[in-house]
Amino acid sequence: MEFTTRTADPARTRTQCLIVGVYENNGLTPSAAEVDKASGGAISALIKSGDFSGKGGESHLLHGTTGTNAARILVIGLGNEDTGDAARFMQIANTTAAALTKTSAVNAICCLLETSVGDKDGAWKARRLIEQFEAGAYKYTAMRGTPPTDNGKLARVTLLTTKDETRAVNKAVKEGMAVAAGTNAAKDLANTPGNICHPTYVAEQAVALAKAYPSLKTTVLEEKQMEKLGMGCLLSVSRGSEQPAKLIIIEHKGGKAREKPHVLVGKGITFDTGGISLKPAGTMYEMIYDMCGAASVFGAMKTVAELNLPINVVCVIAAAENMPSGKATRPGDIVKSMSGQTVEILNTDAEGRLVLCDALTYIEKFNPETVIDVATLTGACVVALGAHASAMYANDEDVATRLQDAGETSMDRIWRMPLWEEYQSQLNSAFADMANIGGPQAGSVTAACFLSRFTKKYRWAHLDIAGTAYKAAGAVKGATGRPVNLLTQYLIDQSRKR
Ligand code: BES
Ligand code: MN
Ligand code: ZN
Repeated sequence: MEFTTRTADPARTRTQCLIVGVYENNGLTPSAAEVDKASGGAISALIKSGDFSGKGGESHLLHGTTGTNAARILVIGLGNEDTGDAARFMQIANTTAAALTKTSAVNAICCLLETSVGDKDGAWKARRLIEQFEAGAYKYTAMRGTPPTDNGKLARVTLLTTKDETRAVNKAVKEGMAVAAGTNAAKDLANTPGNICHPTYVAEQAVALAKAYPSLKTTVLEEKQMEKLGMGCLLSVSRGSEQPAKLIIIEHKGGKAREKPHVLVGKGITFDTGGISLKPAGTMYEMIYDMCGAASVFGAMKTVAELNLPINVVCVIAAAENMPSGKATRPGDIVKSMSGQTVEILNTDAEGRLVLCDALTYIEKFNPETVIDVATLTGACVVALGAHASAMYANDEDVATRLQDAGETSMDRIWRMPLWEEYQSQLNSAFADMANIGGPQAGSVTAACFLSRFTKKYRWAHLDIAGTAYKAAGAVKGATGRPVNLLTQYLIDQSRKR
């Protein structure tokens, strides 16, 4: 989808769909008023009819109005002008996108940047609109024998802005389109089923990504090389699978050669059966999404390369398939990590931390500025925070704050969880340095505690995205692309602070 900006009279501009907003308390926005005047009162007649009150997220499509240059007018409810906030604007952008994709309009002019949203500026609103329009238009169709015909046709959106804000909004448009490209790439990779998306496939996608962008370089480590490095934890996970594990490294060199990189690490379990500790059948199919952490860091790298951010970023994906077989790791097995610490595997379904711990040791060699790992790590996280916030753990206050800020800006939100010493003893093992599970209490916390034992040498945050990365069923089933928006906002902010 193409986005552009323009300063113009909304009533005069030729378009297939003109989008204007109406407040619940204060009536027409300036654009809506102009359109109303030109159309001989089409919008005020709609309000008068009682069919439209201006509630946040309300929408109504007007056809056959005269006096404007628009084939149709989409009237959007903005709610109360005095209490507009970020969450409401997300809802407004979301319903606008949904209403728009139901039309056959190929282009549209959007006058919603004038919506009152607390202290948020036009650039912020442009970012949210672009994200929601792109999300509304996204469909995973690669597996269809016959392509669906009900796709929205929207291809070009013009955001109406003011002269004062044009520069900032243009920048937001550029960033928004790059983030959308990364988000869509993450969704595509995550939605690809496990029979196609195995570790080798993920590696191939990473190689292809680096071919498309000159700032990127991809390296793939094979199981033999991982054995040499002593990655006994990671290799214990793929042992039962016919698919070899891959450690995939994508480097973006946008900063000076000596500048420390920000490192992103993704859990890439392309399918998680649970291994010998087999999962129940009912929802096992969801576990094609157990590589959403990997997909999100992959998508973030696409955005970073697209924007050619002036910083160094390294992405490491620990890709493996967790299968039961005669060769599979057994509950009770003890393995040695690259760090030298040993792990008693009491449950082979707690495999995410096993692939991550070796990846987190491997990245020490990059001397990272900061490290963020992203993983669909625990069902307990879904119980704790549901689908709205990703869990965040950090061993550094500054990294935690920067991530929280990026979450609020992007509305790809996170909630900080405790990494207190008191939880660590739940990982005690009778025979090894630690167990890979911490018992029934605080499952997301003890998983983070496990990882924290491998991240002492750098500033680190962990994101448990088990509840936010995908929707398991229903009309909107599929990967959400989260947290590409959060990660890229964090990196954009980092690139600006220098
Ligand atoms: N991939 C799962 C976590 C998960 C569960 C993600 C549900 C999304 C939805 C992870 O590998 C896992 O199986 N975790 C176990 C850990 C337990 C054995 C300590 C879990 O959460 O049950
Ligand atoms: Mn598992
Ligand atoms: Zn898993």
